[in-house]
Amino acid sequence: MDDIGKRFTNLFGGNPEVITTAPGRVNLIGEHIDYSDGFVLPFAIKNVTTVAMARRNDNMIRISSLQKAGEVVSIDLTSLAPQVGESWTRYVLGVLWVLKVDRGLDILIDGRVPLGAGLSSSAALECAVAIAVDHLFEKNLDQAQLALAAQKAENDYVGMPCGIMDQSVSLMAKAGSALLLDCRDLSTTNIPFDIAPQGLELLIIDTQAHHKLVDGGYAERRASCELAVKVLGITSLRDISVSDYVARKSELDPTTYIRGFHAVTEMQRVLDAVQALKENNFSKLGKLLNESHKSLRDDYNVSCPELNLAVDTALEHGALGARMVGGGFGGSAIALIKADHLDAIQSAIASAFDAGHFKAPRFFTSLPGDGAQVIAS
Ligand code: GLA
Repeated sequence: MDDIGKRFTNLFGGNPEVITTAPGRVNLIGEHIDYSDGFVLPFAIKNVTTVAMARRNDNMIRISSLQKAGEVVSIDLTSLAPQVGESWTRYVLGVLWVLKVDRGLDILIDGRVPLGAGLSSSAALECAVAIAVDHLFEKNLDQAQLALAAQKAENDYVGMPCGIMDQSVSLMAKAGSALLLDCRDLSTTNIPFDIAPQGLELLIIDTQAHHKLVDGGYAERRASCELAVKVLGITSLRDISVSDYVARKSELDPTTYIRGFHAVTEMQRVLDAVQALKENNFSKLGKLLNESHKSLRDDYNVSCPELNLAVDTALEHGALGARMVGGGFGGSAIALIKADHLDAIQSAIASAFDAGHFKAPRFFTSLPGDGAQVIAS
């Protein structure tokens, strides 16, 4: 924190008025259903993005990142409009635009959530900026309002039609728990996820794969779910049981049906996973992770060879369960493993990637951390 403060002063002159942090996330289960009003069960990881910010006496926004070696991007507040600004700055500018910031700012970013790993570095950046603006301009927005503002920035300014999960967990997470988030009304319940005393660990495997489908594929899956809702004449896929959905199969074209089938079955798996956690039944949780992966791979068709190899290898070497996380087409997988299997599973996955001529994966472990915070002002 001191470090970013000093660097801010060296770069911009003056001290930051506020320093905030916001974490990335993994999602235990509940994938691709936040935009269908589902329940999801993510938690915040320990990697955070830190933002130092101070107001200026003019209309200039100046943004720099410690990961961009001193580069300072300047833009006049009055020119903010969707898609304006260098691509990495749009997550920041979008939040300023949505929150109607009316005064220039100096902003320094230290992004420690791995980029492009499917761990929501973009939501972490949006949320760290959102709470800094909220604090400086005394907007007194609650966490749900801030999450919606950050999502709107990503939807309307950046142009990515994401759901509400990543921003919500980055803001609302509590250490030691996974966050059961109802994406319909943004109400939350903390579900204790204390696996260390059970001798377990959650391994995060960043496949370092980024397939081209990432943007178009996401929007297309979301559109299929919206089409299913329209054809079936329901409010959302949240409002239909698996058996009712299956009974109405003939009303939907095959692709729309199978995409919606993922959504309705995944919604049930989240509720079952919460029950498994309440019972400390980790083998049941592991099976649900496996079913989620199969559904994402075969029905929703958002996995990729690297994610499948990471999951299969983890399972072959004793993982209780494993699945891809996030939007898919690359990014990360998680594996619920016995802590004393950690080294063996990591090296088995690394060897399998090597043999498959894939880029070397990166490994992380993280217990559930806290959500976004003002750490100095
Ligand atoms: C991305 C989006 C989220 C969510 C996940 C899939 O991370 O930002 O809103 O849809 O994909 O669960």
